[in-house]
Amino acid sequence: MSAPVVAVLVGSLRAKSINRRLAENIARIAGDRLQLKILEIGDLPLYNDDLWADPPASVLRFKQEIAAADAVMAITPEYNRSFSAPLKNAIDWGSKPMGKNVFSGKPAVATGATPGALGALAGVMATAQLLGVVGCAVMTTPGVYFSAKPEHHDENGVLTEEGTISFLSGWIDSFATWIKKVG
Ligand code: FNR
Repeated sequence: MSAPVVAVLVGSLRAKSINRRLAENIARIAGDRLQLKILEIGDLPLYNDDLWADPPASVLRFKQEIAAADAVMAITPEYNRSFSAPLKNAIDWGSKPMGKNVFSGKPAVATGATPGALGALAGVMATAQLLGVVGCAVMTTPGVYFSAKPEHHDENGVLTEEGTISFLSGWIDSFATWIKKVG
């Protein structure tokens, strides 16, 4: 059986985003346990109900990608103790129109990275709540609150610190089990 496909929403649009780097490291560490697919969310317009009259191609593509995935992983920066606006925008698009919520029933998990000491805790918790609101079955324990340390990465952004790799690997196993259980 092939590994579950996990649609990954990275809440930062920045080229050098530490959250995107975390997503790439999680994908690398997951190996063949999960197939992580980082989705484009930067080309989604700001949510506007009127656009459903002639939905933009980016919106249709995004909704189809979520619908086709077995699970969802949100990896977001903490902005002012919450999730980022691009992530909220993407989740709003996926949840509408009424009756066409592509998140409904999907196993999901949230994490996030910050250079700060608190590991984006408030942003991650708010994201987990949001995913629950749109109908995902959210794994909240164990949690990953990632305080990004440049010295734990090589010059290409690859995570090199064994303790962190091992912790992330255990979390990936937990999410794979969660997907089997609730998916
Ligand atoms: C931040 N940052 C931040 N960090 C944090 O730990 N808690 C917070 O509440 C905030 N708030 C916040 C608001 C806004 C508008 C910005 C732009 C930034 C800092 C943030 O964690 C840092 O810029 C990260 O590098 C952003 O993630 P990416 O873009 O590197 O993935």
